[in-house]
Amino acid sequence: MSHSNLGLHKNQLPTPCLVIDRNKLTSNLSLMQQLAKDKGVNVRPHAKTHKCSKIVKLQLEYGAVGICVAKISEAQVMVQAGIKGILITSPVVADNKINQLPDLIKQAPDTMLVVDNLDNTAKLNQVFQEHNLMLNVLLDIDAGIGRTGVALDKAVDYAHKINQFSNLKFKGIQCYAGHLQHINELAKRRMLSHQILQAAGAIKAQLLAEGIDCQIQTGSGTGTFSLDAELATVSEIQPGSYCVMDQEYSDIEYKEQRFLPAMTMLTTVISTNHSTHVTVDAGTKSLYKVATKPEIISHEHLSYDWDGFGDEHGKVTATSGNLPALGEVLELIVAHCDPTINLFDYFYITENDYVVDIWMIDARGCCQ
Ligand SMILES: Cc1ncc(COP(=O)(O)O)c(C=O)c1O
Repeated sequence: MSHSNLGLHKNQLPTPCLVIDRNKLTSNLSLMQQLAKDKGVNVRPHAKTHKCSKIVKLQLEYGAVGICVAKISEAQVMVQAGIKGILITSPVVADNKINQLPDLIKQAPDTMLVVDNLDNTAKLNQVFQEHNLMLNVLLDIDAGIGRTGVALDKAVDYAHKINQFSNLKFKGIQCYAGHLQHINELAKRRMLSHQILQAAGAIKAQLLAEGIDCQIQTGSGTGTFSLDAELATVSEIQPGSYCVMDQEYSDIEYKEQRFLPAMTMLTTVISTNHSTHVTVDAGTKSLYKVATKPEIISHEHLSYDWDGFGDEHGKVTATSGNLPALGEVLELIVAHCDPTINLFDYFYITENDYVVDIWMIDARGCCQ
């Protein structure tokens, strides 16, 4: 990264690189807040998407109540940056991580952590007792993925048990249906998401009726947040990808929202010795590979494929017309934003296609 890149036209940047159009980003942030406000839910965006404390600060400025992170190492970066209202959305289990929690909580006491196992919960309680600190916890409920979370029919019993630990403060439930987020058809996505979140909502209602202070029901990503927010028990949503977007999310049907592809990748044609295709400088080391292909937006007739070109290179073919020339810069929407961003150190921030700022992706690589 070089600050001499400030002021350059985006096509003059060293590639491959990630560029964020500031106006599109802030338009996405304000649209999310507006939609959530209309439905009366809080927004706690997931920072696992962008891993950038500068974007977190913007999200908070636009009205988010806090942020989510996936792992303790991400939380540490955010606390270092002065961020409050953090929810760690995966259980923290290993002793080497549990032992780091008291320090984190001393700096950011309102941090919350999900739990889905009573032995782990007891261990957390013991450590927090030893440090004479309180830890806010949410019970993670399995939305049917089988990834983390307790089964629905065990949730009430678990919540009662968690509520009895002296140094844990029970705050509510998390139920995140990741497997439903990309269902193309809106009606089907709504039906399946409502099914699971209504069942989770019934648990929240039962706990409240039984005198447990279950204020939070959190979950939801970019695919279901506006559908889930229709449910009265849902108190907050935790979408991640909406702020920058990607091709996987651009492909599905939406209700009201149209988030803009704020983040794009620039890649340069570096070899043109074939009539069938050219080679660009973005391969699997810069463009995370999934079934969906990245979408080239700078040229209407070109398509990108990894196509076995390996770590450093990608293959670009033309559906009609000419192939691009050697040295030409192509702009594309990445296939899947989170793991692609995790491959980079910086976002180049642009206005009217010129670089106005450079933001460090300060939690990149933090998967511990
Ligand atoms: C627990 C949790 N919440 C929220 C999100 C954000 O979802 P999305 O990027 O689909 O909006 C994710 C993403 O994987 C997640 O794992």
